[in-house]
Amino acid sequence: MKQQKERILGPDVKIPLLGFGTYLIPDSEAASAVYAALRAGYRHIDTAEVYKNEQGVGEGLRRGLESEGLSRRDVFVTTKLFPGNAAWGQTPKTTETTIRSLEESLERLGLDYVDLYLIHAPFDREQRIAQWRGLVELREQKKTRAIGVSNFNISHIEELVAAGLPRPQANQIELHPWSQKPELVRYLDEHSIVPIAYSSLVPLSTWRTAPGQNSAKSEAMQADSQREDSLFKRLAKEYGVTEAQILLRWGVQKGYPVLPKSTNPERIRQNADLFSFSIDDADMELIAKEDRGDGVAWPSGDPTKAA
Ligand SMILES: NC(=O)c1ccc[n+]([C@@H]2O[C@H](COP(=O)([O-])OP(=O)(O)OC[C@H]3O[C@@H](n4cnc5c(N)ncnc54)[C@H](OP(=O)(O)O)[C@@H]3O)[C@@H](O)[C@H]2O)c1
Repeated sequence: MKQQKERILGPDVKIPLLGFGTYLIPDSEAASAVYAALRAGYRHIDTAEVYKNEQGVGEGLRRGLESEGLSRRDVFVTTKLFPGNAAWGQTPKTTETTIRSLEESLERLGLDYVDLYLIHAPFDREQRIAQWRGLVELREQKKTRAIGVSNFNISHIEELVAAGLPRPQANQIELHPWSQKPELVRYLDEHSIVPIAYSSLVPLSTWRTAPGQNSAKSEAMQADSQREDSLFKRLAKEYGVTEAQILLRWGVQKGYPVLPKSTNPERIRQNADLFSFSIDDADMELIAKEDRGDGVAWPSGDPTKAA
């Protein structure tokens, strides 16, 4: 079976479909989690300024590269600008402070460049374009190989184009069978913007159940996650894999890079095993009918709805 394992982001830049997420991994645990991920075969790591774990991620990368005999160009590293949100009492970043933010992230990571730099969310109407100008400049300076956005909807992206700026190369969004965003994904495909899927595991009963891991997942959804007759449990049995693997395989089969996060070594290994099976067309059609609309990963509500 010929399996697609990466996707083109731009000239000479490919993004591996299997990535490792690090949200909610504290800095003190990030090095060992990233190290375990590299040992398990992940070659794509996703972090962000606001996760406050870039230092640990950088240490895990150095340890993992050394033990696996890899060089920097063998791994794909994403980090994100925290844009600041005036509605939360923060000062939104300008072009200048955006440029400084990546420089500071690189210092914490111990890297000369990242492979992808994203604006984390479209919070600030006044500064979105200024921040995007900063990312364009950073790509020219080769501090990042590719640039993109996260949680942007169609009008947020069109706003950048209307300002005469290049389109993003990727949009990282909440994307799983319960939040399929067909209109946004169609637009991204038409404009060669890669949709990167986050929170693929929302339909699982084990998704972010530890204290303090807030989300907007409702009690009704959590009850559905536990149903013994759910489609994902049935497919997991049929294909001889876990529910997590069905959800992640759905993503990579749609061509979306996925970013499963875990601090459990067994789950880290299991989530990387996505290319030894495939979901047949009839079952992909059944999964297509599971869409429930908006995402739930942000407790403050779906950020693609920001004005
Ligand atoms: N751009 C954005 O706004 C944004 C938003 C959210 C996420 N992200 C990125 O996307 C990544 C993934 O999203 P996420 O962290 O929300 O959630 P996720 O990866 O979809 O799910 C993680 C949760 O599922 C559990 N889990 C992982 N593997 C499992 C398995 N095989 N079986 C059962 N449970 C399993 C984890 O617990 P354990 O750790 O205990 O295993 C954790 O509670 C993030 O880490 C981050 O890098 C980006």
